[in-house]
Amino acid sequence: MSAQVIDGRAAALAMRGALAERHRAFHDRMGRAARLDVVLVGDDPASRIYVAAKAKAAALVGMETRLHSLQADSGQEKLTRLVQALSADILVDGILVQLPLPAGYDRDRTLAALAPEKDVDGLTLHNQGRLVLGLPGLRPCTPLGIVALARSALSDGSLSGAHCAVLGRSILVGRPTAALLLAEDCTVTQLHSRSRDSASLTRKADIVVAAIGRAGAIGPEFIKPGAIVIDVGINRTPEGILCGDLDFAAVRGVAGAISPVPGGVGPMTIACLLENTLAAAEGRVAEPPAC
Ligand code: GUN
Repeated sequence: MSAQVIDGRAAALAMRGALAERHRAFHDRMGRAARLDVVLVGDDPASRIYVAAKAKAAALVGMETRLHSLQADSGQEKLTRLVQALSADILVDGILVQLPLPAGYDRDRTLAALAPEKDVDGLTLHNQGRLVLGLPGLRPCTPLGIVALARSALSDGSLSGAHCAVLGRSILVGRPTAALLLAEDCTVTQLHSRSRDSASLTRKADIVVAAIGRAGAIGPEFIKPGAIVIDVGINRTPEGILCGDLDFAAVRGVAGAISPVPGGVGPMTIACLLENTLAAAEGRVAEPPAC
C-alpha cells in the first residue's frame, strides 16, 4: 500500500484563488486593500524566511503587508508599545508577531497587547479561550490548515466522529489543533513527551497529527493501516535537508493519506493567515471583548 500524498500547495493555491476574488470585492467596496502588519524581533534566519513567504502570499491576493523589524535588543517595552500602537491604528486590519521571540521577551505579555479582533494568528488569550469554549473567533492558522488538509483526504469531507490523535501540546499547534478537532465533533487523544506508549494510542486513530518537532521520529508503528497522517514538523536532517516529524517513506507504506514536508501544512498555514486577515478586515469576526 502506498498512501495518497496530500498536496498542500495545490490546496493553498485554490484557497488563495478564492481569497483573491473575495479580496477584490472588499477592495471595490472599501477603496483600499486589506492590511496585515507583521512584527519581527531579531534576525532569526528561519523567521525571516517565514515572514517573507507570508508577505509574498499576501501580495499575490492583492493584500498589503507592512513589516516592522525590531533589533533583538529593542526591549519588551518597545515591542509592547509597537503592538499597542498597531492595535489602535484604524488602517491596520491584522497583526502577526512572529514567534519565537528572542530570549528576554515575554510572549504572553506581547500577545496581551494585541487587539483580539486583529489577532489573525488566533494566539491571544481571548481567541484561544473562545476556541476552547466553542465560541466564534479568530482561529490559529496552522491548526486551520491541518483540519482543512485532513478534511480534503476524506471522501465525504466530514470529520465528525473520527478518532484523532494529536502528538504535541504547543500553544501554536498541538493544543489549538485538539480544540479545533473537538469542535468538529472528533474524538481527540492528545499526546505529549510524557505520554506512555504513544504508539499504542495513535495506532487506534483514524487521523494522526504529528507536531513534536523531531525529524523522522514517527514511524509506521504509530499508524493504523489506512489512517490519514498530517505532518506539522519543520526540521532539518543532519545534512540540512528540510523534513517533517514522519519517517515519510515508511509511514507512506501504511497510511491511507499523508501530507509531505515541504508542500503540506506550511502553504496552508499561510493561506489560512490570509483568510483570517480578510475576515478581520471585513469585520466578520466575533465581537471584541467588552473589557
Ligand atoms: N512561528 C512559526 N509558526 C508561526 C505562526 O504560525 N505564527 C507566528 N506568529 N509565529 C510562528
